[in-house]
Amino acid sequence: MTNTSYFAFARHALVAGLKHLHVRPGDDVAIPELICRDVLSSVHAVGAIPRFYPVDRNLRPIGSGEASEAQFVLAVNYFGFPQQLSEFAQHWPKAVLIEDNAHGFLSKDVDGRRLGSRTVVGITSFRKTIRVPDGAFLTTINSVDSELAIQPVERRPSLAYRLRVGAANTERATNLPLQNVSRSTTRLFRRLLTGTALPASTEASEFNLPEPIAMSSYALTRLSLVDEETEVQRRRQLFRKFANEFSMEFGVPVFPQLPDQCSPYGYPFYSSNISPSLLRLAKQHHCEVIRWPDLPRL
Ligand SMILES: Cc1ncc(COP(=O)(O)O)c(C=O)c1O
Repeated sequence: MTNTSYFAFARHALVAGLKHLHVRPGDDVAIPELICRDVLSSVHAVGAIPRFYPVDRNLRPIGSGEASEAQFVLAVNYFGFPQQLSEFAQHWPKAVLIEDNAHGFLSKDVDGRRLGSRTVVGITSFRKTIRVPDGAFLTTINSVDSELAIQPVERRPSLAYRLRVGAANTERATNLPLQNVSRSTTRLFRRLLTGTALPASTEASEFNLPEPIAMSSYALTRLSLVDEETEVQRRRQLFRKFANEFSMEFGVPVFPQLPDQCSPYGYPFYSSNISPSLLRLAKQHHCEVIRWPDLPRL
């Protein structure tokens, strides 16, 4: 049995998870070098020190790098693909493993174990893979102290979120590319206002946690309505379809194989430039091409 506590963002879930593990100021927390810089804010929030370890082209750990003394190690299931946790135990035989499953809602490993629940503490950001305004959870083996568990609150979704849902529903019913139109409009306004089309993450995001902390009860309701089996099949079919049509000219896939029971977040690949034909392919599948991650300022 595992316990689940809900938060607006996975970064809050990670803070609660680190506190649950009694991580203290000055402790080393091992983090892969390929990481979204925002994740550091959770480690900084408890006064711990992020130490980086290297990963290979398949995003598996290849050593402990500067994190050899870490007592706590973040194992990231990149894009919902399961890490082999035994590989981490080889590099850090004594450390506590934390499964960062921010990308892997609904994904399982080949033995059918839910990602994010294979270690004493795991985090999942389901807001990344289903349409909700906020939503993440912390999974723990032991129940967390009551002051760490924050109850969902009533909060009306923002107008921008409601417009996105409207565009997606209308697109599904009519096949008109409304999501692309709404996305392009948002980006145009953002470029005019801030100078960049996509939200730029700054060094401050390595230290400041986002607001709010509590998840909305709306997100909890949406979560309860997910038809898990259908959603997993949809993602797996889309991944296979995309893989079939993906040309090597577009880039190099990170995970050429789709493991059994894996429910991927997208189709990750390495590329230094995005060709118009790839953008067309993505559009045909109602997908978008995004760059990941915004790396920390090491
Ligand atoms: C690997 C990883 N972990 C954690 C997070 C944080 O998730 P959230 O944005 O829900 O706080 C992210 C964010 O992109 C991420 O990529």
